[in-house]
Amino acid sequence: MNHESSSPATGIIAPSTDFESRRSALRRSVAAATAAVAASTVLVAPPAAEAQGRPGRPGSRPGRPGSQPIGPRGRLPERYPGQNARILQEIRDNENDHVGFFTSALGSAARPRPTFRNVEQATPRDVVIVGRTFENNIGTRGALSVGPAINDPDVFKLAVALNQIEARHSAFLNAATNDPISLLDSSFEPLITPDEMIGILRPFIVSLNGGPPLEFSLIPSEENDIAIMNFFLAAEFLEAEFYNINVPKFFGRGGIAPPGPVR
Ligand SMILES: [Fe+2]
Ligand SMILES: [Fe+2]
Repeated sequence: MNHESSSPATGIIAPSTDFESRRSALRRSVAAATAAVAASTVLVAPPAAEAQGRPGRPGSRPGRPGSQPIGPRGRLPERYPGQNARILQEIRDNENDHVGFFTSALGSAARPRPTFRNVEQATPRDVVIVGRTFENNIGTRGALSVGPAINDPDVFKLAVALNQIEARHSAFLNAATNDPISLLDSSFEPLITPDEMIGILRPFIVSLNGGPPLEFSLIPSEENDIAIMNFFLAAEFLEAEFYNINVPKFFGRGGIAPPGPVR
């Protein structure tokens, strides 16, 4: 079967109708799959606390163990001595770097640090469960989901670079309780809407301290790029404070915040 034809005048090879129809079919399949992924994730990631002690969780594949109880006082097992502390300190440092980067990239448009609540956690397990709610839904699903709405190619590259690191944070925290490394055990990262992303931050915010609202659009524009970056800056401020308080408290004293009681 012929898949290509060439113009005698130019010698330029043009795809045949067969190829075009296959490409159209591919586009339709990708669009349908993307819509299906989006539609399947109207629910926000279930906190593992809901699944604690149960064999398996919604979305887990048959035969996989799911979230496990992890011992007295919410302590976390680890594969190598000091690994939990080392990786959580690394995550904490990444989040502080993200705050610094967004603040400097936004310049005078950068929001001030909001005032947060409900940040300090009671057990190491709570740190993992709350932390991965941010990591999975904002850094990983969120930075992926806003990609098509970004106007400036440099901001798009930033979103991809951020997304790659946040996905690693998510995978570690998901695996820390023996859950699948990807959210809902999915082979494709589920998308998330701006309202869902904002809804995850709201319970932690006391005041934006005069900064811009959290809302942003999915219609690309220069102004909207600023709004998207300021949303992520709010999230990074929260995540940095979350790890600055809880990592020294439970995972060693190499932190920035004054240490709390040690486990
Ligand atoms: Fe981050
Ligand atoms: Fe992160």
